[in-house]
Amino acid sequence: MMTVDFLRSRHSVRSFTPEPLSQEAVRGLKAEITMVNTHEAGMHFELVCDDPAPFKGFKASYGMFKGVRNYVAAVVDTSFPDSYERAGYFGQQIVMKAVGLGLGTCFVGGTYDSSLVKVVLRVDRKVLFMIALGYPAQNRQTVLSSLAMKMAHRNDKAPDGFYLPQPGYSLSEALAIMPWLGKGLQGLACAPSSLNKQPVMIKVVEPVGVTGGRQVAASAFVNDPNPKNLVDLGIGKFNFAEAADGVWDWGNGAQFYPNR
Ligand SMILES: Cc1cc2nc3c(=O)[nH]c(=O)nc-3n(C[C@H](O)[C@H](O)[C@H](O)COP(=O)(O)O)c2cc1C
Repeated sequence: MMTVDFLRSRHSVRSFTPEPLSQEAVRGLKAEITMVNTHEAGMHFELVCDDPAPFKGFKASYGMFKGVRNYVAAVVDTSFPDSYERAGYFGQQIVMKAVGLGLGTCFVGGTYDSSLVKVVLRVDRKVLFMIALGYPAQNRQTVLSSLAMKMAHRNDKAPDGFYLPQPGYSLSEALAIMPWLGKGLQGLACAPSSLNKQPVMIKVVEPVGVTGGRQVAASAFVNDPNPKNLVDLGIGKFNFAEAADGVWDWGNGAQFYPNR
C-alpha cells in the first residue's frame, strides 16, 4: 500500500545532476527489479548506470532531457499475455521504488536512441520504454513550448473525472458501495501517462455469473487498447491498487479486488 500523498509526490524529472546513484539506491533498485524479473513472466527490466549515450543525440519531439546518465530499460517479451499492461504496472512499481529512494524519474517512450541502449536483446524481446533516473537538477528549467508544457506534466484533472458513471451507479452511489473507490481514483489521477493523455477510466461492472443482491466490482479500461494506452493502463492500475489497497485482474476492463 502507498499513500495518495506519496504517489502524488512523483513528478516527471527531465534534468539531472551528474552525481552517480548512491550505493543504497542501486541496491534498492536492483532488488526491486530482480523481484519483478523473477516472478513476472516476460519481464526483463534492466538498470544501466553511467551511460548517457541513448539520450545524447537529441531527436525528441516533446520533452527535453538534460544529464540523463542512468536508466531502467523495460525489456519485454511481448508474446506473453497482457505484456504491455504488465510492463506499465511493474515499470511504475520500479518508479515509485526510485522515488522512495530519493530519485527523480521520467518514463521515456520514444525520445531516445534505441540503437544505443546497453541491453542484450533477443529476437523475442523489445525495449517498450525507458525510465530515466537520477538526482533532480535544481534551477535548470528546460525550455518548452506551451504545447510541450501541457504534455510534460499532469494537470489538475479532478479524480472524479476518471470515473465513468453507469445507469444506477453515479459516483456517489458507487462510493456508497465501494468506499475505497475514492482513494483509488485519487491514486489514478496522479499516474504518469504517455503525452499526458491519462486514458485510463474506471467504471462499475456487474461480473458475469453473479446473481442477486448488488454484487458489483470496479473495472479499469482504456477506449483504444493500442500498445501505448495499454502501458498507461498498467501504470494507472498500479496507482489505483496501491491507493485503494487491493489487486487487479490483468486485462482491459478487468476487475478490482479490494483487500478488505
Ligand atoms: C509510457 C510513457 C512514455 C513517456 N514518454 C515521454 C517522453 O518520451 N518524453 C517526455 O518528455 N516525457 C515522457 N513521458 C512523461 C509524461 O509526459 C508525463 O508522465 C506526463 O506528462 C504527466 O506528468 P507527470 O509525470 O509529471 O505527472 C512518458 C510517460 C509515460 C507514462
